[in-house]
Amino acid sequence: MRVLVLGGGGREHALCWSIARSPLLTKLWCAPGNAGIAGVAECLGLNPDAPDDVVAFCERESVDLLVIGPEAPLAAGVSDAARAAGIAVFGPSRAAAQLEISKAFTKEICRASGAPTADYATFETPGDAKAYVTEKGAPIVIKADGLAAGKGVVVAETESEALDAIDLIFGGPGGGAVVVEEMLTGEEASFFVLTDGDTILPLAGAQDHKRAHDGDTGPNTGGMGAYSPAPAFTPVIERAVMEKIVAPMLTEMKARGTPYSGVLYVGLMLTAEGPKLIEINARFGDPECQCILPRLETDLLPVLYACAKGTLKDQSLDWKTDSCLTIVMAANGYPGPYERGDPITGLDEAASDPNVTIFHAGTKSQDGGIVANGGRVLGITAMGRNFSDARARAYEAANGVRWETGFFRSDIGWRAL
Ligand code: AMP
Ligand code: GLY
Repeated sequence: MRVLVLGGGGREHALCWSIARSPLLTKLWCAPGNAGIAGVAECLGLNPDAPDDVVAFCERESVDLLVIGPEAPLAAGVSDAARAAGIAVFGPSRAAAQLEISKAFTKEICRASGAPTADYATFETPGDAKAYVTEKGAPIVIKADGLAAGKGVVVAETESEALDAIDLIFGGPGGGAVVVEEMLTGEEASFFVLTDGDTILPLAGAQDHKRAHDGDTGPNTGGMGAYSPAPAFTPVIERAVMEKIVAPMLTEMKARGTPYSGVLYVGLMLTAEGPKLIEINARFGDPECQCILPRLETDLLPVLYACAKGTLKDQSLDWKTDSCLTIVMAANGYPGPYERGDPITGLDEAASDPNVTIFHAGTKSQDGGIVANGGRVLGITAMGRNFSDARARAYEAANGVRWETGFFRSDIGWRAL
């Protein structure tokens, strides 16, 4: 099978690493990829967000499966263009990816399907949003409706913080509308399912660490580390999430003529009243993907292909009993401004434990070595017979990486300890 993966982060390295192990694979490309992905796939200069270019490549190279990692190609219409050209695509249509693209849309699907989520209202002008905030009071959560590169959510402790957030959002990139919602309290968890629009195959739960620094302090990031399974995400909670959130929402999407296929990322708050939906993403979480895929015993490639072809009912998943934990190494300054080009060494020694895999995110090859080339740069991932073993192995490996201007949190997994 000839496969093209779009994206170039740790998530895509984990996807390529898994796909590369499949006996069904004959050729793997990744656009744009990174220095780590280049070890398992041929990296391309192709623009992953350009529908015509991606389709032309798939046709020229007889690609059997297109796997879309991040959300940007979905929003740009790449999945739709490829499907229209008869290419098998792992990834939802642009219409179904509205679940990630528009927070107002997701809330509407929750309301229509009865999926538990925070109470909310949507506003198209700052004046109406502010009046609602004044009526409800703080704490309250303000969200940009559109994609805002992770900067679209403010959990406001005070009313004035909420009012400022409304001004900021209407002046920014996701700024057409805001969702104002009730603040939920509890532990957060991410849950992933695969679906072809009909069959739903649960993958696994994980817990991420969104804040940049130890003790969950500092600014929000894309995620600084994750582990799976997550003890707080029990089988009982998983069943409730499948029955009350995932199945009704996917049924609603199908009823609207926009069935969802691919991987569904279900962001949850585990509240005292039960799990409630915080957000949907139309892609794998990153770093969550890095600590879920290594646990999978089953060959991933035919499962992704079945999602694309609508034959997921014939598939099942087997899991290793091990735990897995990923520590993200990021460039000093991330998620703010940071420098690129600093050399990283010691990766082979750090990954000498057979349980350890180092997934690359923002890296590139230069003068025969590896240099940092992004905010989140490496995902140090370790399997272990239990959570503590995985964590110890991951930290030992992370401490072995030599990179002057990188940092990582020293408390990944504190909730599970
Ligand atoms: P989102 O982009 O929707 O994932 O939101 C980013 C982060 O904001 C989440 O991971 C939560 O930590 C927080 N958040 C979002 N919505 C709520 C809510 N209703 N109550 C409390 N925290 C929230
Ligand atoms: N780790 C959070 C995300 O992928 O959005």
